[in-house]
Formats: sequence, structure tokens, C-alpha cells
Amino acid sequence: MTPSKILSQSFTLPCGVTIRNRIVKSAMSENNADAGGRPSDRIIKLYETWGEGGAGILVSGNVMMDSKALGEAHNVVVENEEFLPELTEWANKAQRNGSHLWMQINHPGRQAPKLNKEVVSPSNVELDVIKGMFKAPRPLHDEEIWEIIEGFGTTAHVAKKSGFKGVQIHGAHGYLVSQFLSAKTNLRNDKWGGSLENRARFVLEIYRNIRSKVGPKYPIGIKINSADFQRGAFTEEESLRVIQLLTEVGIDIIEVSGGTYERAAMMGNKQKVSTKKREAYFADFIVKARRITKAPLLLTGGFRTAELMAEAIENDELDFVGIARPFAVDPFLAKGLLDGSVKTIKAGKVDTGIRLIDRLGIMNIAWHAANMKIIGEGRKPNPKLSPWKVFLKFVWSHR
Ligand SMILES: Cc1cc2nc3c(=O)[nH]c(=O)nc-3n(C[C@H](O)[C@H](O)[C@H](O)COP(=O)(O)O)c2cc1C
Repeated sequence: MTPSKILSQSFTLPCGVTIRNRIVKSAMSENNADAGGRPSDRIIKLYETWGEGGAGILVSGNVMMDSKALGEAHNVVVENEEFLPELTEWANKAQRNGSHLWMQINHPGRQAPKLNKEVVSPSNVELDVIKGMFKAPRPLHDEEIWEIIEGFGTTAHVAKKSGFKGVQIHGAHGYLVSQFLSAKTNLRNDKWGGSLENRARFVLEIYRNIRSKVGPKYPIGIKINSADFQRGAFTEEESLRVIQLLTEVGIDIIEVSGGTYERAAMMGNKQKVSTKKREAYFADFIVKARRITKAPLLLTGGFRTAELMAEAIENDELDFVGIARPFAVDPFLAKGLLDGSVKTIKAGKVDTGIRLIDRLGIMNIAWHAANMKIIGEGRKPNPKLSPWKVFLKFVWSHR
């Protein structure tokens, strides 16, 4: 079979929902909502455009489940039904041509900028990035932890009610779920900390709460780190064990990524030499995950050729390929991969050339977010957008 034929095969999830092909547009934070986190016309236009592009699943950028805990100033926030009309329009327009729109639900925990009045986390371990950019977090009380679990469920319920065809728990990249999983950021000695089983309790309770609200036939996925790439944090062995636990409770897709704000492995900064030829940053890990889980697997990070995407599916290493940044440059990318006209994806040139800046992953975020904004305004993305212009604008807006 040709790569395009392999990528075009449909797939049925454990909950019974069928996805029309193997291409997932992975989450990219739009950071472009209206006041109060209301989904803007620009975000809706962006997904309407992506919806014409042929992907099986479009995962939204991380939607905050608590307005008091924003990851960025202009995230979409869903903590009740206030934005139901906008969310419904978003779902309808994105899904008009057969893509499924899933809402990625997140709480940033300590990875929250200073605009938040207070920052919370399992323990008071401060983020070690640019000095002065983040506040020291306050450890969460037991009742607050249950409130957040309930909040994830409420957000998922609203997503379903507005027509989103699935939800994804953001359990990766150093945000709150990931902070609970990591022994470096979770120093608790109650039932939420200590052993891996205790550290995994938070995410499992979130899953159970969501499932109780959306029913057995609605897709629930998770994005999880293969590892945090830091000493004493969250290891590959631990990630494999959590994947087993999530499989046992019935998760529908496990998306594998890696890294945190402190180690931006999700953008390829920690790629092993052994996986360079296979493009995907976590290609070794997905093979290990496949051996211990029956849950559908989605691998994101680094995939750039149809041939290697299809090869990974054909070798039965994974079921879906996740692609993020290239969708900000070519919103119709999936169509090209599926009809065979795109064999190799061209990446945008986003580096400033200053190692200190480029290593942080800020440029990757800012440059691609700028192009998503352009698409949201109904214009064509600009693969030649100046990295320096984007960087200076970023600094100005965060001054
Ligand atoms: C602008 C931007 C925003 C992102 N926002 C999110 C997000 O909200 N949630 C998430 O899980 N990953 C987010 N990511 C990470 C991507 O989903 C993906 O894991 C990463 O870009 C690697 O995949 P790629 O090589 O195909 O781009 C973001 C990446 C970029 C560039």
C-alpha cells in the first residue's frame, strides 16, 4: 500500500467512534480568545479553515478549565456554559467537512504567568526558567484538588454539549497533571504524592470524573509525556506504568509527547540520535508503549514525511500520527498527505540564531501562533514570516 492509502484508513476507538483517517492535528494554543476567554471569531475561522483540510481529528489548543489559572493571557476558558453559543459555532464550523474537533482541557499549575493572582501546584517547587517570569506556587489543599477534578469534568461536559466530538486531558509538558506525576514537582506525602500510584491518582480521578459526565460512548484521550527529561522527575518506566493504568480504565487514545517548560523536548530539543532517522522525537518510546498497552496510540513531534508516518503505522508501532507546527504554515496539509501530493512537509524557519532564545521554545510557539492568527483573519499563512519581528513583538507584549 502507498503511504497515502495507509494514512487514509479509518480507525475505530474503544468507545466505538470511528475516525476517518490517521492524521491528527495536535494541539496548538491559539492564545487569541476574546475578553474572559470567550472563543473569538478568529479562532472559529482558524478551525473552519483547518476543517477544510482533511485531518481525522483536530485537537483544540489547550482550553483552561479555571479562569483563575491561565497558561497564557488569551486562552479560551470553559468553566461553565457561558460560552455555549460560541463553542457550538466553533464545533459546527470545524466539523462541517468530516473532521472531529476535540477539546484539549488544561490547568497550567505552576507553569502560569504572573498575570494570575495566585499560582498553585502539588507542592511549592518554583519553575526554573527565566528569573522573575513565574511566581512560586502554593501547594493545593485536598478539597481544591477535588474541585479541579470536578472542573475538568464540567469542562468536558460543556465540550460535549456544544458538539465537540471528543476531549483530551492535557497530561503532558509540565502542566498541572504532569506536575502531579513528576516526583520533582510533587513532594506531597498524602494520598496524592509519594508512590507512582499516588501521583497518578489525580489523572485517574480526572478521567473517571469526565467519563461519569460524558458517558461510555464519548472519546476521552490524554496527552502524556514519555518522560520529563529531568533527573528525579517523571521517567520512561513511570510513564509506561501510567499508560497501563489509563488503559485499564478505558482511555480512547494516548498521545505521546515529552518535556516541560524547563526542558522543551516536545519541540525536538532532546531528540535521541537513534530516532533522528525515524523523524519522530519519541519513536523509541512508542515501541515500548505498544508492547504494554492495547489502547490506541498517537505519536506527536517531528513527523515530516508521509513515508515514515505510514511506515510507523504499517509496523504496528502506532495508530495515529500527530502533526502540529506544519498545520500553522499549511492548513490544508492533511489533504496533501492523503491524496499523495505532499510527500515531505516543509518547515518554517523560525530561529533567531541566538541559542539562548531558540532553546526555550518561545520562538517556535510565537512564530507558529503568529501564523495561526493570520489564518484566523482569513489570510494566507506566511512561511517567510521574520523570526526577529515575531520575537520583538512577543517581548513587547510580555513587557
Ligand atoms: C504555537 C504552539 C502551541 C502549542 N500549544 C500546545 C497546546 O496547547 N497543547 C499541547 O499539548 N501542545 C501544544 N504544542 C505542542 C504541539 O502539540 C506538539 O507537541 C509539538 O509542536 C511537536 O509536534 P510538531 O513537531 O508536529 O510540531 C504547541 C506547539 C506550538 C508550536
